[in-house]
Amino acid sequence: MEVYRAILSRRSIRRFQQRPIPVEILKKLVNAARVAPSAANLQPLEYFVVTDEKLCSDVFSTIRWAGHIKPRWMPDKNERPVAYIIILVREEIYTREQISIDYKRDVGLAAENIMLAAEGENIGSCMICSFDRAKVRKILGVPETLLVDSIIALGYKAEKSVIEDMQNGSIRYWRDRRNVMHVPKRRLDDILHINGF
Ligand SMILES: Cc1cc2nc3c(=O)[nH]c(=O)nc-3n(C[C@H](O)[C@H](O)[C@H](O)COP(=O)(O)O)c2cc1C
Repeated sequence: MEVYRAILSRRSIRRFQQRPIPVEILKKLVNAARVAPSAANLQPLEYFVVTDEKLCSDVFSTIRWAGHIKPRWMPDKNERPVAYIIILVREEIYTREQISIDYKRDVGLAAENIMLAAEGENIGSCMICSFDRAKVRKILGVPETLLVDSIIALGYKAEKSVIEDMQNGSIRYWRDRRNVMHVPKRRLDDILHINGF
């Protein structure tokens, strides 16, 4: 898939078909993260791939889904993610190299690489930062030397999500009667400044 097309077509997907993603594809997604830009090339990130049914179910229980959808919503049992990539940070690298930078930019770039590579494979994804990190640490046995930062939920798509121009300044995404998600995005003209304001 052409890169710009994948960038435009990628949406956060939160309902998934219940067929597995081949492990080779999951490895490909982590490889896409591995080569992402990294501040000072420190490469503090590691990745934990979850495909085991019980682990998937345990990770699912820690997640808060689609905060703008009311009443509170979560995927049904037959539409849950079939895999997760947990993004971990080896913070000690910063101390060792005596470089003080925020790792969060590295996480963002790695996460987008994962999600765009997934889009290229027609796999839906959703970045998750609203979850119980202590629980995930316990479920997966993550050692204290690694920080649990974020989760990318994955699976073949079972929902449609479209972008639209933001109306009345509202950033809240919403679902229509046919369950299509609508995601307001700021208009290009409102955020673009060329050679001045
Ligand atoms: C840093 C970050 C954290 C997010 N955390 C969550 C989350 O905890 N739960 C969730 O359902 N979606 C989460 N999302 C997905 C956003 O809601 C989504 O990106 C946004 O609504 C725009 O939709 P789009 O990705 O389809 O463009 C997160 C996205 C980002 C970038």
